Amino acid sequence: MVSRKPTDAHPGHDQPKKLFIKTYGCQMNVYDSERMAGLLKPLGYQETETSEDADLVILNTCHIREKAAEKVYSDLGRIRKHKETKEGQGGEMKVAVAGCVAQAEGAEITTRAPIVDMVFGPQTYHRLPEMIARAARARGEILETDFAVEEKFDALATIREIKGYSAFVTIQEGCDKFCTFCVVPYTRGEEVSRSVDAITAEVRMLAVRGLREVTLLGQNVNAWHGAPPKGDSGEEWGLGELVRHLAKIDGIERIRFTTSHPRDMDKGLIAALGEEPKLMPYLHLPVQAGSDKILKAMNRGHTAESYVRQIEDIRKARPDIAISGDFIVGFPGESDEDFEETMQLVEAVEYASAFSFKYSRRPGTPGASMAKQVAEPVKAQRLERLQELLERQKQSFNKAQIGKVLPVLLEKTGRNDGQLVGRSPYLQAVHANLPDTLLGQIIDLEITGTLSNSLSAKPHENRISA
Ligand code: SAH
Ligand code: SF4
Ligand code: F3S
Repeated sequence: MVSRKPTDAHPGHDQPKKLFIKTYGCQMNVYDSERMAGLLKPLGYQETETSEDADLVILNTCHIREKAAEKVYSDLGRIRKHKETKEGQGGEMKVAVAGCVAQAEGAEITTRAPIVDMVFGPQTYHRLPEMIARAARARGEILETDFAVEEKFDALATIREIKGYSAFVTIQEGCDKFCTFCVVPYTRGEEVSRSVDAITAEVRMLAVRGLREVTLLGQNVNAWHGAPPKGDSGEEWGLGELVRHLAKIDGIERIRFTTSHPRDMDKGLIAALGEEPKLMPYLHLPVQAGSDKILKAMNRGHTAESYVRQIEDIRKARPDIAISGDFIVGFPGESDEDFEETMQLVEAVEYASAFSFKYSRRPGTPGASMAKQVAEPVKAQRLERLQELLERQKQSFNKAQIGKVLPVLLEKTGRNDGQLVGRSPYLQAVHANLPDTLLGQIIDLEITGTLSNSLSAKPHENRISA
């Protein structure tokens, strides 16, 4: 990227300014933070590790559960002290709240935390330079939470700061599913798919920059759809076709996608999982619960049985696939029997990894005002039992890899000297003693053991598979 002198947003400042971004929540926020950093770089902002002496602090927030949202306010308390110290020394610090808390709470944030100078929602990041300039000129609050997601896609397509060999690429944003527990349809707006041409251009750019893996992101990534590229007269594409198209890009060796919804898991995508060698054998397919009564109250649009059948079809196409999921325990009305059905579903599916949460009441969602809210201690007990089962399944999936030879994308150096860490096709962290010169390569490694969250491995005749 060509670096420019700081623009008139900061007249008289030739020194780089310090930018501290803290990212909460999902991978889409990680992606958005990279783009914000990329957008601010030409304005003279360089990323720093701490908020202490930052000129600009951006908290890219998450509203999904109460704990996530509250964490932002406790962090703002700490940042206030840094800001006061800096101002006491004649300096200046601007504090911005971005992301889903910004979208959901808007101006309430500045009431609760007056140190906040700017509040802006996920669809306004392309206007960031302009907002910064305005905040520099005038003190006072800046509030930007309008939805215009296509504009954001267009404006931000190629600007980002990337580290490593694997990158996220947002292909779809927003959600129209309205699960009754979830804030995402309110914070990210309606489902919008990016065009094939825009996605292809971004993935090509990543390939040119030496990246080996892309993870296609969307709140409902498998709801992605789009017109085929110009010159291709076929019907509208789904995610399966898009993946096959991106797989043709030289340099990109691995493609992943997340998060999928059971309702949008179509035949084309299942076929691609079986047939496209660059598409990794890992599928995050949240089910949330195993009781049809609860799934209905959650407005999920699928049953426990339809989900289990879907997993069977997917395994027919790709027998070794690692299945991952999300679970909520203690949704309003969940009885002991309903919870047992979740446990039975987990036993039937056998997950390689999973995320599980206690139901958190979110203001404005239908679930928050439902009768029969479940008591906290009951939620805690259920979560403990579920997590124990999921952990056992994860360990047995990991142990089953011992003795196998897996291609591992070596992504970074490990904690110990001479150690590299990478990812298996099943998204497991793998570490092995290997020279730094192999970083960014995909190497066949023999899995020798398991630790609580990773696999250990050794070189397998130093064969390079890609
Ligand atoms: N779009 C994805 C994930 C959205 S949020 C999907 O449809 O599955 C990620 C996870 O957070 C959800 O899958 C759900 O398990 C959890 N979650 C969302 N809202 C929640 C709430 N109110 N309380 C507890 N967990 C919640
Ligand atoms: Fe939330 Fe449901 Fe949409 Fe996922 S599908 S983002 S859980 S509303
Ligand atoms: Fe959180 Fe918003 Fe992502 S609520 S999970 S940051 S879409």
